[in-house]
Amino acid sequence: MNFWNWISPCLRVSVVIVALLALAGCDAERRKSDAELGLNPQQAEGRKLYDNYCDRCHEPYSSRGKKGPSLKGVFKKQYLSISGLPANDERMTDIVKNGRAKMEGFRQVVTDQQIQDLLAYLHTL
Ligand code: HEC
Repeated sequence: MNFWNWISPCLRVSVVIVALLALAGCDAERRKSDAELGLNPQQAEGRKLYDNYCDRCHEPYSSRGKKGPSLKGVFKKQYLSISGLPANDERMTDIVKNGRAKMEGFRQVVTDQQIQDLLAYLHTL
């Protein structure tokens, strides 16, 4: 078989795959890097913790709900949307440690230092 006869179907398939990936990329919003978000080292640490422990249930950058409410701009409002508790470090620490009705607590999982890092990140949302 001639080389070009062989490569062109492959190339055609590749073009289709690349186009599909590009479309998929347009649909889901691209994840920004820590630098693009302007996160300092502590906030970046907090983001890692957020990705590990919170992201599966709470959207950080979209107001869409997941299992729990979005945490976009959580500290920009005076009160938390569901419970109406004051949106401050003290309440947030309590919620992260003890959980809520449908949310597990992370008391056994994260250290006090890690909670500080997480709070620093949540303040950037
Ligand atoms: C298994 C899913 C799940 C995980 C993981 C989770 N949450 Fe939640 N969270 C929820 C649900 C569901 C609610 C709301 C319902 C309730 O009060 O039980 C909630 C409520 C909250 C609230 C209170 C919202 C309000 O308006 O009162 C805060 C703040 C919060 N979560 C922060 C976090 C943070 C920070 C993390 C990571 C350390 C986290 N959650 C991890 C499911 C989760």
